[in-house]
Amino acid sequence: MDALTLLLTRHSQPRLTAPAPCSMALENIKQAALRAPDHAGLKPWEFIVCTDEGLSKLGAILQDSAIKSGKGQESIDRALQLPHRAPMVIVAIAKYIEHEKVPREEQIAATACAVQAMQMAALVQGFAGIWRSGSYAQCPFVKMSLNLSEEDEIVGFLYLGSSKVKPMPKPRVASENYFTHWS
Ligand SMILES: Cc1cc2nc3c(=O)[nH]c(=O)nc-3n(C[C@H](O)[C@H](O)[C@H](O)COP(=O)(O)O)c2cc1C
Repeated sequence: MDALTLLLTRHSQPRLTAPAPCSMALENIKQAALRAPDHAGLKPWEFIVCTDEGLSKLGAILQDSAIKSGKGQESIDRALQLPHRAPMVIVAIAKYIEHEKVPREEQIAATACAVQAMQMAALVQGFAGIWRSGSYAQCPFVKMSLNLSEEDEIVGFLYLGSSKVKPMPKPRVASENYFTHWS
């Protein structure tokens, strides 16, 4: 797939199964993240690649957060299973670094670019994925369990694997609704 086709047909897939990317395919995904635009080259990020028992470990953190946040029993039970919706979940974290020219927002933006790059690198190698966030991404208990500071941000949980279904082509969006031209 050429780069433009990838950009124009990129899509998410919530219904994921094994196999997850591994070896060179996974390394390409990591390298794609590390090529994200990054003001001052701070590399203000950390990525936790969860597979197998790692998914259960992440699920236990989400469940603990559900309990501590006073969620209902259904949410508490579900939390444990959430990461198991894919064979791999990459937790993408913006690790804030104080810098006179690079505000926190830009560091979050750089990490978001890395997530997008990883998703596209997965797609072009025949895998599929979806970027999720949800209340757990904002939860102070989850951040604490991951040893994050208040200023760090969980930018997303990137669920990766192989698509269970054939993707539906998405309709083209009218660009004139979102772009104006000044010339
Ligand atoms: C920061 C961010 C957080 C998101 N969180 C969720 C989420 O928690 N659950 C979800 O179903 N989709 C979430 N999405 C949207 C999906 O990743 C996806 O873009 C959406 O389902 C549209 O599908 P498409 O990417 O094929 O256009 C999020 C997207 C972004 C950028």
